[in-house]
Amino acid sequence: MSNFQVVEHPLIQHKLSILRRKEVSTKEFRELVDEIGMLMAYEVSRDLPLEDIEIETPVAKATVKQLQGKKLAIVPILRAGIGMVDGILKLIPAARVGHIGMYRDEETLKPVEYLVKLPTDIADRQIFLVDPMLATGGSAILAIDSLKKRNANNIKFVCLVAAPEGVKALQEAHPDIDIYAAALDDHLNEHGYIVPGLGDAGDRLFGTK
Ligand code: URA
Repeated sequence: MSNFQVVEHPLIQHKLSILRRKEVSTKEFRELVDEIGMLMAYEVSRDLPLEDIEIETPVAKATVKQLQGKKLAIVPILRAGIGMVDGILKLIPAARVGHIGMYRDEETLKPVEYLVKLPTDIADRQIFLVDPMLATGGSAILAIDSLKKRNANNIKFVCLVAAPEGVKALQEAHPDIDIYAAALDDHLNEHGYIVPGLGDAGDRLFGTK
């Protein structure tokens, strides 16, 4: 079974508590998602492989570490995932960015993919798939199906708030994918919102409500 990890860093927890408040403005919400995205990237990149290289400092030759050159891609699930991209890019500026867009079919209530735009060498990349909310897990499962269809297998799913229902569904569908969240909330309500959650992340990020 995949690993589900709540990232307990105090800065993440503090900023997430502000983010949840209903009076937070669009501007503040966007800034906080950006900052938390950056802090999550710090934790999620903890196990990136390093290699030894020889360099010269002004004083002596030295053997030091550098990232092994493993190529990264950040893939936001549209639209709310976009809010996390810039924060992650602040730490990993050379990462490529792909996009996966989905809408919810009004009849089946299931997510339907309408856009997949990925780096051509996506199969060779370590992917951070990002979406602030892991609610039912439907979008994340479909996005990972889509990435795996393109032979991408090295995927970490990164969200801010997860519902137990979404974690379970995602782990059952994709037991090989590790999940990182800033919080595990209580449950999903009858409208599909995470409780207590933070509302509709897309609307709050883009000021559309
Ligand atoms: N998507 C959101 O933006 N918020 C929720 O609570 C659930 C899904």
